[in-house]
Order: sequence, then C-alpha cells, then structure tokens
Amino acid sequence: MGRIAIFTDDPGWHGKQLSLAFAGRGYRCDYVSLTECRFAIESGRQPVFIPGFEHELPDAAFVRGVPGGSLEEVVLYLDFLHALKILGIPVYNDGHAVERSVDKAMTSFLLHNAGLPTPMTWVLRDREQALSIAETELNQGHLLISKPLFGSQGEGIRRIEKSTDLFWLTGSHGVYYLQRFVHCEGDGFSDHRVFVINGKAVAAMRRRGTFWLNNVARGASCELIELEAEMVDLAVKATAVLTMDYAGVDIIRDREGRCTVIEVNSIPAWKGLESVCDVNIAELMVDDLISRKINKCAAA
Ligand SMILES: Nc1ncnc2c1ncn2[C@@H]1O[C@H](COP(=O)(O)OP(=O)(O)O)[C@@H](O)[C@H]1O
Ligand SMILES: [Mg+2]
Repeated sequence: MGRIAIFTDDPGWHGKQLSLAFAGRGYRCDYVSLTECRFAIESGRQPVFIPGFEHELPDAAFVRGVPGGSLEEVVLYLDFLHALKILGIPVYNDGHAVERSVDKAMTSFLLHNAGLPTPMTWVLRDREQALSIAETELNQGHLLISKPLFGSQGEGIRRIEKSTDLFWLTGSHGVYYLQRFVHCEGDGFSDHRVFVINGKAVAAMRRRGTFWLNNVARGASCELIELEAEMVDLAVKATAVLTMDYAGVDIIRDREGRCTVIEVNSIPAWKGLESVCDVNIAELMVDDLISRKINKCAAA
C-alpha cells in the first residue's frame, strides 16, 4: 500500500477528506507536523527524517499547513519541502509555490509582472513613506487596506478610511503592505473564490462578508456561481504564474465590472466551497496528484 505524508498541525475536516480520498485510491495517510521533521546529514542515511517514515520516504507529501514561527523556523520548514522534492518525492503544492504565495508582496509582484490585474500595492519598511503613500491615496479619494505580509484568513487586515486611521498604522514585523481598496460590484461586500486544479477551474463561489472582509473564516457566506470565462481565465493564469498544482484564487469584480486578483492561496480551505457544490475537491486533487506525480515517478 502506498503512503502519503500530509503536513499539517491540525488535520480537521480537510485532513479527513484527503485521507478518505487517498484511501479510496489505495494510499494510507499519516498526518505529520513540519515541526517534528529534521535533517540528519550523516553518511549512509536518509537525510530527511519524517516521523512515521523513518525507513522509507512517502510516495508523496500533501502540504496542508506550514506553521508560523521565527524566520529560521519557517525557512527550515520550507527546506524540508524543497529537500523532499529534490529527493524525488512529489510535494503538492511544492515548497516554491508555498513560499511565493504566503508572501503577499511576492504574489502581488508576480501577478503584476505577468500582466494580470491586481490592485495597486506598496510594500516597504519605512513608516514615514508608508504614511505619505496612505495620505496621498486618501487625498485622492481612495481607501487602503493594510495586510500582514504573511497573513491568512483575514487575520490582521485593516482598512484605512480617514486620516485619523493613520495613527494606528503599524507594520507587521516591520513591513508595511498597503493596497488600494477595490469597491466590489453590487450591493454589500463580496468577492469570488475560484478553485483551480491542474490548470482547470473546478468550482467557484461568491463570498459575501458581513463587512468588507469576505473570508469564510470571518463569517462570510458562500454562494455557488457559474464558472464564467473571464474569471476562469484569470484564475487559471494566476495559478500558473504562481506555479501551483492547485490554488484557491480570490478575485474581486469592481464597480466597473473589471476583475482583479487579490490573492492566490497555495494551501486553500475548501469546506465552504464544498458546502455549496457537489464537487468532491479532495478527490479531484488526489486524482491529480496520483496521476500526474506519483504514477509518473513510478513509470520513470
Ligand atoms: N485590495 C482589496 N480591496 C478590497 N477588499 C480586499 C482587498 N484586499 C483584501 N480584501 C478583502 O480582504 C479579504 C482577505 O484578503 P486576502 O488578501 O485574500 O488575505 P487573506 O490571506 O487573509 O485571505 C479578501 O478576500 C477581500 O474580501
Ligand atoms: Mg484570501
């Protein structure tokens, strides 16, 4: 029986869904925390130690979570993902994709560099410059969003609406990430989440926030939407730019009807999306990983 390592500190519903999907294809899963892995670089030994895989490395690793921590800790966790890939173990999504997408500055840069629409964004260290950018934006009638560079699920995101908001403006670990606020189409607040697997959009939903933050983790409700060509094209291109096997792409359609990419998630949740559609997302990802990555390795 094949074996898969699912990197996570909190398997929960998603871990269970993946385990079930892998089990249906003849693979057993172990949940592993990246905090428990280590390098043992000695002659004649497997250099990467993964608990539960002491004798043989897994057939593949599925990355469901990379814990936060000091720069050294996070670099070490990513090192394990890079090392496994170098050792020929498929890593889904791989370390490079995870690395680039958890870093919101790099995501914004790569999207813009590829010519994809993404909001105007400034990322910098200097507080005076950050204040000056924010003042200029406010004076021109724009609102700004301030985000932690490594945030997720809406954590730490603030909206700058007026000049007195600048008093509390602080960087996250010394870095300011400021982005022009995009007013969405229609009433209230909403954005879209498109789930892409191997270059194909498999499902999409509208997320309606109770305020301007549309994360499901922040109470946004989910509505299934049609996979429409413009949004699909953008989501697929954004996923390709970030070189991901699969992704959850956040897109806002503005008041002029233009779509803009907010985020490309390399470790997206899919519980909210699956609650409104009858696609089994875990099975689609598992099939993709097995057919494109494991069977390919076996054949080589
Ligand atoms: N530039 C923006 N304009 C309008 N809303 C935004 C903007 N950036 C983020 N948001 C809102 O905040 C949510 C979270 O932002 P996102 O960049 O996806 O970070 P996270 O990683 O925390 O999900 C988005 O889904 C959207 O609702
Ligand atoms: Mg998001």
